[in-house]
Amino acid sequence: MADPANPSQRPFLGFGLGLRTDHYETVLTERPAVDWFEILSENYMVPGGKPLHYLDRIREHYPMVMHGVSMSLGSTDPLHREYLQQLRQLAQRIEPAWISDHLCWTGVSGTNLHDLMPLPYTEEAIHHVVERINQMQDYLGRQILIENVSSYVTYIQSEMTEWEFLSIIAERADCLILLDINNIYVSGFNHEFDPYDYLNNVPVERVWQHHLAGHSNEGNYIVDTHDEPVIDPVWDLYAEAVRRFGSVSTMIERDDNIPEFAELFAELQRARSVHDSVLKESAA
Ligand SMILES: [Fe+2]
Repeated sequence: MADPANPSQRPFLGFGLGLRTDHYETVLTERPAVDWFEILSENYMVPGGKPLHYLDRIREHYPMVMHGVSMSLGSTDPLHREYLQQLRQLAQRIEPAWISDHLCWTGVSGTNLHDLMPLPYTEEAIHHVVERINQMQDYLGRQILIENVSSYVTYIQSEMTEWEFLSIIAERADCLILLDINNIYVSGFNHEFDPYDYLNNVPVERVWQHHLAGHSNEGNYIVDTHDEPVIDPVWDLYAEAVRRFGSVSTMIERDDNIPEFAELFAELQRARSVHDSVLKESAA
């Protein structure tokens, strides 16, 4: 286990992209200068077939991290043992730098909502989720990263802010954080909190990865669609994240309306350039 008091133990992979089917051939033949790829774990939990074929070949050339959407850490259903087993097998196959999932629930009583639902921010929920993260970490034999989700509902039962909830869970479960900068912006807009308050109250040493993404602004609320480029206020928030957290492995998430690889690569280069200029400005 990493020592959370020593952020220097945080590996910095550089700047990555989500590996998407549309780009398999481009990645293999052109070997773009992407530092690493994030894969959606569930896409490769199948025996054989095209996804695993490409995964193995691309893995030979790039570091990878695994990102899941199905662990449902907040649910009251028992942890899905078969899913965990498949996750562990995939991890043995590709040896990811780390494994992440979301601080959310995705269903209850066997019904899958196919959405990442927030939890009530209560002591009871903290206790419940910490216990489940412990089980998952014990099973996988490693620390996991939990990601803050974007959300559209709140609960009257909540006793604290989302960032307090996330930070307390990370400390008690001794897990790490995948801090999605766009999700902070989206939830801040939807629930009227200051995204900078969020950013400035998450423990520095636990943040090991950032996500950046685009969304759809519907006027009085934002839907986190991941189908557009990152907007300027999210880039500004990312710059602040670099000031606070330093060099954290960062990637662009695009899940719909997937453009040519070159377009995503250009967006990734913008992340690199924001990071580099913030560090230069801090050193001056
Ligand atoms: Fe994300």
